[in-house]
Amino acid sequence: MAPHDGKSVMEEFMASETEKRPISTIVIIIAMQTEALPLVNKFQLSEDPNPTFPKGVPWVRYHGIYKDLNINIIWLGNDSVFGVNSVGTVSASLVTYASIQVLKPDLIINAGTAGGFKAKGACIGDVFLASDIAFHDRRIPIPVFDLYGVGLQQAFSTPNLLKELSLKVGKLSTGDSLDMSPEDEASIIANDATIKDMEGAAIAYVVDLLEVPAIFIKAVTDIVDGDKPTVVEFRQNLAAVTAELDQAVTQVVDFINGKSLSEL
Ligand code: ADE
Repeated sequence: MAPHDGKSVMEEFMASETEKRPISTIVIIIAMQTEALPLVNKFQLSEDPNPTFPKGVPWVRYHGIYKDLNINIIWLGNDSVFGVNSVGTVSASLVTYASIQVLKPDLIINAGTAGGFKAKGACIGDVFLASDIAFHDRRIPIPVFDLYGVGLQQAFSTPNLLKELSLKVGKLSTGDSLDMSPEDEASIIANDATIKDMEGAAIAYVVDLLEVPAIFIKAVTDIVDGDKPTVVEFRQNLAAVTAELDQAVTQVVDFINGKSLSEL
């Protein structure tokens, strides 16, 4: 994420030491249960019976040891009123903040599905590692507030991981709607995005504040600039694309195992 000014020499030293030691604790933030459960099974994680998070929040933590890693998958849970997965930026930012406070991860992975733009080369089932992340539904047409609204962040750089795994790279744009209004579309084009989700930029904002490295793995369930209605295509492809996503996350976790941040 963006470098921070005003660090003491000791803080700089500690940060560089952290970059050199093997990654030990990772938090994987996933919005939908359908996306999370295959990974929970793959890594043989168990649901945390003790309340890691404050009473009343729907977030569910699965954790365990996989190889040399302490893995936590945090599913955003079901909304207590409507019973559906609590997708979107509000839940995502809260859970990211709470997870960092409680679990102090070395690395955060946000894994999920996304819409893709065929004009930018996305196809159904593609798995992307996001390079840049920004919002497309925070339009504030006043100088400087406009840039704050877009909230552009960069993902933690992982050149070796990219060399090793066959993931596509693209810019991710986030908003709180599954559909795309003409205003959203103009902002997504301005963001130069290839993929569109509902959590990434919120997570990127929090990890930047708290200085935790994060990567964003997104699998394409629907083509936003195609002919099919988004909801139909999303539902049709969710199960198959989730399998692609989970395979990619497993490969990423296997690559991370035993490595330091500076080796990614
Ligand atoms: N997740 C999957 N498809 C999406 C889309 N088209 N927009 C936002 N989030 C998504």
